[in-house]
Amino acid sequence: MTVNFAHTALLKELDEYVNLTAKQQPHWEDKTELERVKKQLASQPPLVFAGEADSLRRQLADVAAGKAFLLQGGDCAETFAGATADKIRDRVKTVLQMALVLTYGGLLPVVKVGRMAGQFAKPRSSDVETRCGVTLPAFRGELVNGFEFTERARRADPERLLQGYNVAASTLNLIRAFTQGGFADLRKVHTWNQGFAENPANGRYRELAAEIDRAVRFMDACGAGNSEMSRTDFFVGHEALLLDYERPLTRVDSISGKIYDTSAHFLWIGERTRDLDGAHVDYLSKVANPIGVKLGPTTTVDDALALIDKLDPERIPGRLTFITRMGAGKIRDLLPPLLGALQDAEVTPVWVTDPMHGNGITTATGYKTRRFDDVMDEVQGFFEAHREVGTVPGGVHVELTGDDVTECLGGAAKIDEATLATRYESVCDPRLNHMQSLELAFLVAEQLRQEQF
Ligand code: PEP
Ligand code: CO
Repeated sequence: MTVNFAHTALLKELDEYVNLTAKQQPHWEDKTELERVKKQLASQPPLVFAGEADSLRRQLADVAAGKAFLLQGGDCAETFAGATADKIRDRVKTVLQMALVLTYGGLLPVVKVGRMAGQFAKPRSSDVETRCGVTLPAFRGELVNGFEFTERARRADPERLLQGYNVAASTLNLIRAFTQGGFADLRKVHTWNQGFAENPANGRYRELAAEIDRAVRFMDACGAGNSEMSRTDFFVGHEALLLDYERPLTRVDSISGKIYDTSAHFLWIGERTRDLDGAHVDYLSKVANPIGVKLGPTTTVDDALALIDKLDPERIPGRLTFITRMGAGKIRDLLPPLLGALQDAEVTPVWVTDPMHGNGITTATGYKTRRFDDVMDEVQGFFEAHREVGTVPGGVHVELTGDDVTECLGGAAKIDEATLATRYESVCDPRLNHMQSLELAFLVAEQLRQEQF
């Protein structure tokens, strides 16, 4: 075996993160087992290629420049059992349907990134959970432990890292097949959207849907190449939270000699782990994938500038995405000064709104939920803030599913508190269901249209 000394040196530098504080990591009891699993994971093939991550970065550079729009969506927490063909298909379908509407609204290519094939680890506000006087470790996502409230399920099990890898691999395989094998055909996607617009509850979107209908038929009649109509890029991303999963899947690319985290095309750092001196920021500063950082309401201008210096010192277009999640009531006050300061500093990250995580509420009956109106209000506030400052509103990042769940309140189907219990299936945060997701896409399309005038 040949040892490449340059690669060894790079990986040694990468491993400096182990000396820093890594928040939100599980307590693995069996360290020997953990090391065995990590070794096994390190010998598995990469899930994505460096060239694909580079392609996404170039597309994100277009987003930063206002020449494309980013749609990121999927579960809050994927589950292993939820990785069935039907469920994956319906989530992909939802994202494709939304993307078509957004493409028409913005007259821009839509870059599609699923919160899929690796979104298995969750940060928690408390290390433990207490129910009826019993205290157990909190559920940290299926990459770590089980959701069931038993001592056995809640134990952090390293074997899950391998299971997660395998589920991610089969999920990604199906996504690739769906989006390259004809399922993503615009003519078909469009027919699904017509079904949505024909529903009386969605009457207000009928006109826009009819316009899209003409546009798709026009393209078809003009003989737009079959491959352009029937295939699409579909990238995947997740929160790079669990470093014991990310590290074994991080490799040196033999062509460029650069380090890539091959667990996904896009990795982001969560609101709770974005400390400048923490392990997560240090780790992702050394991988060449396009990366994101969630920015909550406490973010200062200095925080944002320091994150840029650390994560994107060379100011590579498309390298860094800021995903803001301020809350509907705060975004109009908090976002414009941040945008203005970064504009003055002549830095242009991709700006994306996550209208979900700043708008959580808990009902009297104990359901974690969000109001669809708050979600939409934050999206609208995002566009207003960018219009005010003259920066580019680059995209939306949402938690959604293709299923007809009842987890978020409102929307055209008017889900109310009493209805929440009927199909609440999320093991973490509430997601927009299929209809609510499409509704959001139509509303965002209306915003994007205004951008053009
Ligand atoms: C999430 O995206 O599921 C999440 C936990 O978000 P945040 O880091 O913004 O709280
Ligand atoms: Co979430």
